[in-house]
Amino acid sequence: MSSLTPREIVAELDKFIIGQAGAKRMVAIAMRNRWRRQQIDPELRDEIAPKNIIMMGPTGVGKTEIARRLARLAGCPFFKVEATKFTEVGYVGRDVESMIRDLMEIGVSLVKQEERDRVRGSAERAAEERLLDLLLPSAGRMPVAEGPGFVMSNASAPSPEPSPRDAGTRDKLRDLWRAGKLDDREVEIEVSSQGGPGVGIMAMPGMEDMGIQMQDMLSRVFPPRRKNRRVKVPEAYELLVQEESEKLIDMDNVTDIARERVEQSGILFLDELDKIAGKTDASGPDVSREGVQRDLLPIVEGCVVNTKYGMVKTDHILFIAAGAFHYAKPTDLIPELQGRFPLRVELSALNKDDFYRILTEPRNALTIQYKALLETEGVGIDYTREALEEIAAQAERINEETENIGARRLYTIMEKILADLSFDAPERGGDKVMVDRDYVMGQLADVIEDRDLSRYIL
Ligand SMILES: Nc1ncnc2c1ncn2[C@@H]1O[C@H](COP(=O)(O)OP(=O)(O)OP(=O)(O)O)[C@@H](O)[C@H]1O
Ligand SMILES: [Mg+2]
Repeated sequence: MSSLTPREIVAELDKFIIGQAGAKRMVAIAMRNRWRRQQIDPELRDEIAPKNIIMMGPTGVGKTEIARRLARLAGCPFFKVEATKFTEVGYVGRDVESMIRDLMEIGVSLVKQEERDRVRGSAERAAEERLLDLLLPSAGRMPVAEGPGFVMSNASAPSPEPSPRDAGTRDKLRDLWRAGKLDDREVEIEVSSQGGPGVGIMAMPGMEDMGIQMQDMLSRVFPPRRKNRRVKVPEAYELLVQEESEKLIDMDNVTDIARERVEQSGILFLDELDKIAGKTDASGPDVSREGVQRDLLPIVEGCVVNTKYGMVKTDHILFIAAGAFHYAKPTDLIPELQGRFPLRVELSALNKDDFYRILTEPRNALTIQYKALLETEGVGIDYTREALEEIAAQAERINEETENIGARRLYTIMEKILADLSFDAPERGGDKVMVDRDYVMGQLADVIEDRDLSRYIL
């Protein structure tokens, strides 16, 4: 678990998200509290429940982004789900427990990836040997030269005792392979074909989990089919590395670590919480918002959910809920649920100064993204300060005049400004383009003149 201090966490978040200091501080404290909890002796530790958070704020101001970055920098299993996806048990739709199963799925793949990285070295060594087995004619069989791309089939049984001459050949071959001289050669390799039986079951809504179990069962009854494929040497090597690392990874161990990780440091991001708040309409398409809230209670409070990796306890999973809360207020949630989200923080709407900083400061800023994209075509692009100020100001104005979609407005504007250049870029290799204020005004001329038009275009 990450031992970053709240200050360090905020500093990390600052690299990607502008402003929203209150929300950043709150999630940083929540993170740190988990670390603190781990230091306490077990008896008291189990008593300390996470303080769940509600982030309130208009669309596109960084709610999801904060939670996502937080999870990434702490290496926590993180899953985002829209509260509106769920329906009350008994109706068609997803049941709320599925989010724990999804989180567990994420935890498992997270840990599995870590394990893969850990065993990569050994897997590579083993894969290299198997690759040489494929490349080397097995003992007793004479090499058949078939021109440059000659093919040897898989020597399934390792050759008994390599003679010194064989060993010499093997080493030579190894040198050739390492020097990349065999990259154009093909070998035949046995791979397991994907998509066994039972795939169709997945498609039934609400039955995913049953589908998974069925598939699991079926895959035991029908082992994955193996078939021979002829591939280039580097691809064969990658396939062999994968196969060897699967052998080295103990899945039971992975599952145990993942379950521990999910239970102790998992974060569930529950988006659109406001959409399930409020009084239920007697009629209408939404079945019962209150019903969904009631279904959520035990999970947020702490219960045990059955997943295909075993039982997962939800007591210490951190829930971060988010929503605009324009119409509904947190007090419109059923009281029991309100009580389970004791921390509230409001995110502020963004103004043109924020937009300017969003365009320039984050290390993944849009301006940097477009620059990198166009560079692939050999087109250099730079922006003047005035141009970016103009973009920020236009974003603010259009947000005010039409719908306030927050920082996402910058996406639509940037896309419009650079659309022509994007289209022509392949024919403009070598060009250097300076995006200045005139360029911006030129590209936005139609929407600036005809304000109504911006409703449709931006
Ligand atoms: N304060 C900010 N700093 C930097 N980028 C931001 C900020 N706010 C939003 N963005 C960018 O805008 C996009 C949308 O933000 P995000 O997904 O966090 O919105 P949201 O608040 O979750 O909105 P919604 O209520 O619609 O889900 C993201 O790509 C994010 O990078
Ligand atoms: Mg969001």
